[in-house]
Amino acid sequence: MPLILDQSTISLAAEHLEKGELVAFPTETVYGLGADASNEKALQKLYATKGRPGNHPVIVHLASFEQISDWCLELPDYARLLARKFWPGPMTLIVKKTKHVSPLVTGGQDTIGLRVPAHPLALMLLRTFAGGIAAPSANKYGRISSTCAEHVAQEFGDEISVIIDGGSCPVGIESTIIDVTGTWPRVLRPGSISEQNILECIGLPAIVPSNDTGYTQKQIRVPGSDKSHYAPNTPLLLLDKSALKVFLADHKVDEKSNNTLSYAVLAFTVLNELTQVSAQARTDNTLITEYIQASSEPKDYARDLYANLRKLDNSGANYILVEAIQESADWFAIADRLQRAATNTKV
Ligand code: TXA
Ligand code: MG
Repeated sequence: MPLILDQSTISLAAEHLEKGELVAFPTETVYGLGADASNEKALQKLYATKGRPGNHPVIVHLASFEQISDWCLELPDYARLLARKFWPGPMTLIVKKTKHVSPLVTGGQDTIGLRVPAHPLALMLLRTFAGGIAAPSANKYGRISSTCAEHVAQEFGDEISVIIDGGSCPVGIESTIIDVTGTWPRVLRPGSISEQNILECIGLPAIVPSNDTGYTQKQIRVPGSDKSHYAPNTPLLLLDKSALKVFLADHKVDEKSNNTLSYAVLAFTVLNELTQVSAQARTDNTLITEYIQASSEPKDYARDLYANLRKLDNSGANYILVEAIQESADWFAIADRLQRAATNTKV
């Protein structure tokens, strides 16, 4: 599969989009799997390739704020302020859609998600293509998002014809999604633009997922809000430091194979300290298939999170163990992703 490394070949990618083909491209958050948002056949191909159910909406990416009138029926003043402040950037606004928008984009709802990304290659592609690009994260449905071109290639193999390679995504987790169709902004998916940033920008507090019961009652489909999402294949457990130590000290045996269970670990605590309660754990290097020391800086943790999860997932362990993170605003979006990655794990 051709990896496009040269920015001058962006027009080739735009031609692919015009022909109804799929193009993966970098954004500052994660890679997107793009299709012409005005072409129903291309949108059908997008859903089929991603393996996403048809009633789940996708975000439409635009080159600039000025283009939103083609897609957005109305925008309250506070949303205008958010757009002016955070676009181009890692923020998606859910707005009332205009008539011509395909139900394939919106999952049949009367709203649409819009975003102007900040990544220079994404902006070049959008300007060259000159239309809206519908793009979910470039991963198979329910799996970990891709934060580099190699990961996109691993997810889709030959199913897509073009990947624009922009290296690693600097933010690393998906955009903050804010529903701006009501009197108050409502955060549907936390991201690097925080509740505090929203408050500082518009002087209104946002309704956030942890205290939001109204939205689930409306039963609107937001796949990133499915309880299990962003999940590696290997079961993942979130444990605090003392539980992690106990876990690593206790050599559980797989009932079927009779082999000692092995672990891949992402932790703030250094490995020596984690395994000090167990001499065997320290010396038996088959027990821990991969250890990654996590950054204590939330921006760095987020940037590396999905690449780290993939590395742990590929290490052949029976379980991925992740040391619990702080409960503070800076870590909120990361906690959201880790909890969803851990949701289906049973011990
Ligand atoms: O950072 C990002 O947002 C990345 C990059 C590629 O832009 N995109 C991304 O797309 O994460 P996706 O499809 O994996 O997640 C977008 C989320 C989904 O949970 C989708 O349901 C929600 O946005 N969404 C899109 N349109 C919506 C709408 N009209 N109402 C409610 N949720 C919507
Ligand atoms: Mg996604």
